[in-house]
Amino acid sequence: MRFLSTTFLAVLLIFNHSSFSQSKEFYNELYRPQFHFTPEKNWHNDPNGLVFYDGEYHMFYQYNPKGTEWGYMHWGHAVSKDLIRWEHLPVALYPDEYSEDKEFCTVFSGSAIVDENNILGKQNGDSKTLVAFYTSQKCGQRIAYSTDKGRTWEKFIGNPIIPFDEKDDARDPKVIWHDETKKWVMVLYRKSSEDEKSKGISFYTSENLVDWQWESHIHGFYECPDLVKLQVSNRPGEFKWVLFDGDGSYLIGDFDGETFTAESAKIKSDFGNNYYAPQTWSNIPKADGRTIQIAWMRGGEFPEMPFNGQMSFPCEISLTKFSFGYKLVRNPIKEIEKLHGKNQSWENKILIPGINENITKSVKGDCFHIIADLDLKTSDNFGFIVRHGKKTPGTEILYNVKRGTLTVLNTTIPVVPIGNKISFEILLDRSSVEIFLNGGQAVISNCFTPAEGAEDLVIYTNGGELGVDKLIVYEMKSIWKTK
Ligand code: FRU
Repeated sequence: MRFLSTTFLAVLLIFNHSSFSQSKEFYNELYRPQFHFTPEKNWHNDPNGLVFYDGEYHMFYQYNPKGTEWGYMHWGHAVSKDLIRWEHLPVALYPDEYSEDKEFCTVFSGSAIVDENNILGKQNGDSKTLVAFYTSQKCGQRIAYSTDKGRTWEKFIGNPIIPFDEKDDARDPKVIWHDETKKWVMVLYRKSSEDEKSKGISFYTSENLVDWQWESHIHGFYECPDLVKLQVSNRPGEFKWVLFDGDGSYLIGDFDGETFTAESAKIKSDFGNNYYAPQTWSNIPKADGRTIQIAWMRGGEFPEMPFNGQMSFPCEISLTKFSFGYKLVRNPIKEIEKLHGKNQSWENKILIPGINENITKSVKGDCFHIIADLDLKTSDNFGFIVRHGKKTPGTEILYNVKRGTLTVLNTTIPVVPIGNKISFEILLDRSSVEIFLNGGQAVISNCFTPAEGAEDLVIYTNGGELGVDKLIVYEMKSIWKTK
């Protein structure tokens, strides 16, 4: 009896200890994003194969299982029911031809679709086949498919579907369904001739997902294209096509299934240093109707971390017609609210200059969702300082009223107030700060490495009064912990 109870106690202690260390250490390193996706360890880059199927958002991503540097690319895999909390799954795609080489037949970027009508003929049971299109480095454009909701993958026997051509440097196929012509369309980054200036996007069509017909080419693009049809949110019944470049910039225009006709110049969609290879999810149910985009935060630094890279926060994109023309608007998906913890809020306050006037003195932390509607009043300049410390100055988000510019982390962009007001939505995580201005009309996505322990938030004005119409600071919960 005595022995039994001691054993029981010991087991209890071990159990308690391990659950304690899991909740304390798991995904809790200094620069580990708490509400942005990261693999547990190693290098990752572009999001790939984004597809929704049977209640799950799949996210594959460029992944090096061998270390924290780029190379030996595979497709890592995670699934989510809400685009917020992710479950890691085993690596989905391995290099072709059993290659162990750092750069040969490795699995580069691409996309995925649901084979609703079993065109590929691989369906087995009730689950639709998921079909992934990817670039096999120096080995052509290829297909892999899964008949078990993305859990296991087979390489298509007729690969490559578009053979390797060393002159065109083709990569990153994104496949979409073009309902008007009832064809599949692939947008593929490539050079249409040996001339470097021919770098751009080629459009291909297919009826069977296997045989692809080249249709047209548009110059002036580089890597990771995407093509989406968007409803103009303030013009019912009006749709436009948007063609994305690897750096997130885009053209608005028309697409007839074969050729893209631009109606705008190239427009920048993110003004920060770290927004790259954005991709939208395919097969989001009509009843939801959103177009959701996520990007790799390229260029981020994560000193001494077991991982190297993070994704941006998933955003809904839409088109709006403004007085100056059509423009993309990007905002965090509404599911962000699920991560809200405690909040502090202020309303209809007048902020005056002075170091002691900071109204957010009681806010301490490293992960926040900040929503602010500010009235410029008589301020010369105003802003926020995030991750501010007693000994280490934080990162300033500064609006200069006379110049009409916002400056953060070496980026300065014009921001035009709307009726003398500017709205801010700031997603602050341990290694990134994303700023959405005036309802997502301009977005600045940056990675940063704030000082350990610097946890103050400052809101300030200089030279005159600032109206704080509304300020809400939500603490953000971690997406990785259930406790
Ligand atoms: C963009 C990119 C893609 C390529 C992949 C390789 O970041 O260079 O063009 O497919 O990364 O990892």
